[in-house]
Amino acid sequence: MTDADRRRSDTRELLEDLATLDWFGRDASGGFTRLAWSKELLDSVQWAAGRMRDAGLSTEIDAAGNLIGRWEEGEGQAVVIGSHLDTVTSGGRFDGALGVLTGLEVVRRLRAEGLRPCRPIWVVAFMDEEGERFNSVMLGSRAFVGEAVPADEADRTDAQQVSMGDAMRTWGREFSQISAAKRIDEVHCYVELHVELGPVLEADGLDIGVVSDIVGLIGLSVTLRGVTNHAGTSPMAGRRDALVGAARAITALRDNALASTTHMATVGSISAAPGGANAIPGACTFSIDLRATNDSGLQTARSSVNAILAEVCESEGLTSTVTETYFLNPVPLDSQIADIISRAAEQEGLTHKSMPSGAGHDAMLLAPHVSTGMLFVPSVAGVGHAPEEFTADDDVARGAATLTSTIRALAT
Ligand code: GLV
Ligand code: MN
Ligand code: MN
Repeated sequence: MTDADRRRSDTRELLEDLATLDWFGRDASGGFTRLAWSKELLDSVQWAAGRMRDAGLSTEIDAAGNLIGRWEEGEGQAVVIGSHLDTVTSGGRFDGALGVLTGLEVVRRLRAEGLRPCRPIWVVAFMDEEGERFNSVMLGSRAFVGEAVPADEADRTDAQQVSMGDAMRTWGREFSQISAAKRIDEVHCYVELHVELGPVLEADGLDIGVVSDIVGLIGLSVTLRGVTNHAGTSPMAGRRDALVGAARAITALRDNALASTTHMATVGSISAAPGGANAIPGACTFSIDLRATNDSGLQTARSSVNAILAEVCESEGLTSTVTETYFLNPVPLDSQIADIISRAAEQEGLTHKSMPSGAGHDAMLLAPHVSTGMLFVPSVAGVGHAPEEFTADDDVARGAATLTSTIRALAT
């Protein structure tokens, strides 16, 4: 039997788990929609909790909606393996889910080989990593590390005008209790496996990415205001069309980021009011997501937004308001854990390289507090946040083998 055959056969149960998770939140696009505090996410979390118990873990869903499965062996702080089960709208099958289910697979393997870890091992599925529904990105990991979650987040509403506070109540959780989810003092180190969601590993023909650092993110909500008027009777000259202003701002943001070597800028949602085909939009609200690998790149990106909005408002006769919806510093990950991951890959005869992450991950909340490492497996065609997201079974198997050796090294 070759190493690849052995890995494939070892991975059967993990692949079955992934297939079972397909039942939760699959939508007409073929993608998955398990938004924060939704019924679809709760169903998937309860199923995953059952699978954790099947593997001998004790489980709890904490005050922030994080699912924690605990193997309480050994002494002291825990080695934590985590990721998330929530998705964006029509997201992929692997983003987050693979990290949680592979963490569980690692526990099954270590238990089956009779390992007695010197410290507890936990598997965590964090709540709301994606943050799409309420613009509350990484809510679960923020609460887990003890960050104060601003009270206004409870009042943020989704597209159906449901507030986060009310959505939490459908899970039997109260926003006022969220600080009870702080567990970071019980954590020794954190490791997250994730699909790359980008094209690098596939293009380079490599098996494993060892993450060196994670980009910083700024989320903004921008509203431009002009004047609503009749589409037929208002002369073209002199209109104060907020949607035209947004269109100009969006292309300017794209051009500015294209010319930059340090940052990326994306507008992913937009709405115009009043929204009729025959009325000039008097207001337009859109999101901006800015990313850079260092603080100065992030600040440059933020300043360029101000300059672009000022220019557009001046020339289109508009006003603007800008609200920051998220801010996550860029973070370096732990080089010793990176070395352990690299050695684990080599023991499996796998190729690897050190690389930054352009996506945000729960690991970025843990990293300032405890030694934190991440490994990537390849994404076919570099697709992420789309139904076409795909990672081959053999790459899942390679990731599971590498994570198992990494956790064995950290917990013995
Ligand atoms: C998380 O998936 C992100 O937006 O990077
Ligand atoms: Mn994602
Ligand atoms: Mn993710």
